[in-house]
Amino acid sequence: MSVVAQPSSAAAAREVIPPGFRALAEYITQELGIKMSDAKVPMLQSRLARRLRVLGLDSLEAYHQLLSSPAGAEERSAFFDAVTTNKTDFFREPQHFTYLTSTVLPALDPAADRSWNVRVWSAGCSTGEEAYTLAMVLSEHGLIRGNFDYSILATDISQRVLEAGMDAIYERPLIAPIPEELRKRYLMRSRNPADDLYRIVPALRSRVRFSTLNLVGPEYRISDTFDAIFFRNVMIYFSKATQERVVTRLCEHLRPGGFLFIGHSESLASLNVPVRMVAPAVYRMK
Ligand SMILES: C[S@@+](CC[C@H](N)C(=O)[O-])C[C@H]1O[C@@H](n2cnc3c(N)ncnc32)[C@H](O)[C@@H]1O
Repeated sequence: MSVVAQPSSAAAAREVIPPGFRALAEYITQELGIKMSDAKVPMLQSRLARRLRVLGLDSLEAYHQLLSSPAGAEERSAFFDAVTTNKTDFFREPQHFTYLTSTVLPALDPAADRSWNVRVWSAGCSTGEEAYTLAMVLSEHGLIRGNFDYSILATDISQRVLEAGMDAIYERPLIAPIPEELRKRYLMRSRNPADDLYRIVPALRSRVRFSTLNLVGPEYRISDTFDAIFFRNVMIYFSKATQERVVTRLCEHLRPGGFLFIGHSESLASLNVPVRMVAPAVYRMK
């Protein structure tokens, strides 16, 4: 019986890795912290296909060369927009917002007769749904407590999502998770009913400040200390070492006893960070 030699699966995998992919993957990890294994070839190719077409380039290799050259500075923003995953929702992981009002706010409240300005950071805010959910929940809390104000910082690396957040205009399917009562108070419907678009009311928009911030960049340029930080569904894309570094830096901006929320599919269990778990996907500064 004759045996035909088969290429090993590693060799087969090497064959389909397009030139430039690994260099580009390394660039993404270095710039954004996002891990890019060889399994991500089809995803990266499809996400960058439009950029290559617009720029008249024929390969990932040529695109990486452009990005690494001085002329590539202009392309960086479009590149960040293309490679980040921006899935989000209003009231995503809703237990967190219940926990915020039932436990976090009462625990941090200085005293009901004193005025209080709560500060929250949505780090990796995407198109603003998380920040505006926080604004609705905090605004509702203010109606009950009185003598209460709040401000929200919403940051992301992608310019496209930040602009969408600042516009604060959402299509009907996106507003489905918002309870009816809150829709009535905090959303305005477009004048043209055919558009079926909804905008966050100015009173809420004015409480949210959107800003560009790369969580793995050299500095945060934030002087504020926050009562709570929502850092959800962002570090899932980072390596363990990057997760530890970013969470440590975020904690430098949490007040003593402040709360850190992460996504329910994420964990800080194996990281050396100055917070302890107090509820599922909720941590508190030691
Ligand atoms: C999946 S969305 C999560 C949005 C929201 N926090 C939520 O849970 O619904 C992740 C966001 O993190 C942002 N992101 C990824 N890497 C980042 C980095 N290095 N610095 C800042 N933002 C980053 C992405 O642009 C994206 O909008």
